[in-house]
Amino acid sequence: MGESMSSVLVAPSLLACDLARVSEEVCDVVAGGADRLHFDVMDGVFVPNLTFGPGLCAAVRRHTVLPLDVHLMVADPTPLVEPFAAAGANLLSVHVETVTHLERTLRRVRELGIRPGVALNPATSLAVLDEVWPWIDFVLLMTVNPGFGGQSLIPSCLDKLGRLHRLASERGWPGEIAVDGGVEAGNAGELRRLGADVLVAGTAVFGQSDRRGAIAALRGESR
Ligand code: DX5
Ligand code: ZN
Repeated sequence: MGESMSSVLVAPSLLACDLARVSEEVCDVVAGGADRLHFDVMDGVFVPNLTFGPGLCAAVRRHTVLPLDVHLMVADPTPLVEPFAAAGANLLSVHVETVTHLERTLRRVRELGIRPGVALNPATSLAVLDEVWPWIDFVLLMTVNPGFGGQSLIPSCLDKLGRLHRLASERGWPGEIAVDGGVEAGNAGELRRLGADVLVAGTAVFGQSDRRGAIAALRGESR
């Protein structure tokens, strides 16, 4: 083991995999010890990039029993909740910046048997969580501006992660803190120490040929 004994979860983001070989890529990270699979859904409106929809989720569902974690980076996520439920999503986050009637949307997610979460852009204040805590099972703290893989983590987001962890602990909130964007072996230790329960990582997993080693490195395990 490395410096941390924490049991951080690792969620490889399929945004960075070879989509022409998605079943092999999924099997490789599943065999390599991934805890869940992260789907970056982008609409070209909320973020300047376009990716995939529920079809990919349903296709991957046939290859693994791991939890599927859907991150909706779309201007209007609410109509997509039911299609992703039908596609087999187990966790689903919407950006607080995009939903007007957040309680209604998150309640629908939970009614469908999916763990609801909210994603926060780097510029979004943690204060938005004040009313939201009871409705969510996790916070997806963006550590880059969403839209693209392979960006560098924004350093000020580390302080924000520490503050989020303190807020959650003070409330006795039982949910998870996930961090997303620019996560790599070089900053994973600090992210774990600051209170991340889940590390979402695209490039740091799929950009490495040894996926088992890459996942172990994010956990702080020496091999
Ligand atoms: C960014 C996405 C991330 C992305 C992370 O918009 O939400 O999930 O896949 O990619 P890396 O780990 O390469 O920064
Ligand atoms: Zn993501």
